[in-house]
Amino acid sequence: MNILMINGSPRKEGRTGKLATIISKKYNVKTIDLSELVLPIYNGQEEQNEIATIQKLRSQLENADAMIIATPEYHGGMSGALKNAFDFLGSKHFKDKPVAILAVAGGGKGGINALNNMRIVLRALYANVLSKQVVIDPSDFMSEGTTLEENTSYSVDSIFQELKLYTQISKKLNEEWVASNY
Ligand SMILES: Cc1cc2nc3c(=O)[nH]c(=O)nc-3n(C[C@H](O)[C@H](O)[C@H](O)COP(=O)(O)O)c2cc1C
Repeated sequence: MNILMINGSPRKEGRTGKLATIISKKYNVKTIDLSELVLPIYNGQEEQNEIATIQKLRSQLENADAMIIATPEYHGGMSGALKNAFDFLGSKHFKDKPVAILAVAGGGKGGINALNNMRIVLRALYANVLSKQVVIDPSDFMSEGTTLEENTSYSVDSIFQELKLYTQISKKLNEEWVASNY
């Protein structure tokens, strides 16, 4: 099962990146880190299809069975870096794939708008976004961002286990569907 983590924060020391690192280590999943994989602004020009970072992004997403996507909440939405990355992608990267979404907020009850914003965009990409979702506040981190508080860790574990379950179901249904069409 190929589950891919996306860190949607452009900030190298951002908390969303810290969360992505915790998840990728704990569940042994590969990460696309948008603070490392710096993409140009999407402009629709043919030349952008030749850029190595864009080709890498597209092939990693195409080969994934499911994704876990974390965004920082910036001004009540997902990060511009993440939306720009989505603009380089299309339904062939997401269609029928289970996706778990998490938002990292600044506290003060933020995060939900970024999740809803991401949910709308992922629907347009035909992803199957799980109902379950998680908001992470600064107070959810311990040990300088290397671990999560117990309850938060439980919430992340719960969404990850659900993502795995839906990925298994989705792969099985897909295989049966392909077999029945031969
Ligand atoms: C440009 C900008 C806008 C932000 N807007 C919000 C916001 O609307 N709501 C919120 O809860 N936090 C907001 N924050 C705080 C971030 O959510 C916070 O820094 C969090 O750690 C996630 O971002 P990071 O991964 O870049 O650290 C904002 C931060 C920045 C840099």
